[in-house]
Amino acid sequence: MEYRSWVYEDIFSVAELEKRCFSDPWSFQMLADTFFGANTLTVAAVEGGKTAGYAFAVAAGEEADLANIAVDPAARRRGTARALLACLEEKARAAGVKKMFLEVRVSNAPAMALYLKAGYVGRYARPRYYGDGEDALVMEKFL
Ligand SMILES: CC(C)(COP(=O)(O)OP(=O)(O)OC[C@H]1O[C@@H](n2cnc3c(N)ncnc32)[C@H](O)[C@@H]1OP(=O)(O)O)[C@@H](O)C(=O)NCCC(=O)NCCS
Repeated sequence: MEYRSWVYEDIFSVAELEKRCFSDPWSFQMLADTFFGANTLTVAAVEGGKTAGYAFAVAAGEEADLANIAVDPAARRRGTARALLACLEEKARAAGVKKMFLEVRVSNAPAMALYLKAGYVGRYARPRYYGDGEDALVMEKFL
């Protein structure tokens, strides 16, 4: 598996994976706008020319918000998300970020397990954060 920053063409496969992995996917346009943002950090996991997973974060000063991370269902439980997260944190550190935070659906046990294992700590809930009314747990990690 190769881990590298996104190039423009990656937005197409990321948008496809978003649709397969989330009930409320980011649109191509949202992803493209974020990709061109000056403070966006991106990582793609590529295997055999195919995007198996991705992660991206938006930095603001000494903090960065992990916007999303996902792995193709066929490529899960092989450590890809853990590696994506580690790459993103490394990039964030290099950009001067001291704290990474994220929101996760309270029902998303696999993602919470991933974050806990990577050293993130649950801080507080954001009630009805998602469009369907589900609460988010905010988690953070000092880098
Ligand atoms: C969450 C997700 C990114 C994990 O990707 P992955 O590549 O399968 O994760 P990894 O193989 O790197 O797993 C790392 C650790 O996370 C935890 N984990 C991952 N998937 C899990 C699952 N289905 N059940 C329980 N724990 C899980 C485990 O602790 C795992 O370590 P282990 O395999 O040594 O037990 C993937 O399931 C996914 O894309 N889900 C849909 C999108 C999503 O919910 N993203 C998070 C948004 S907040």
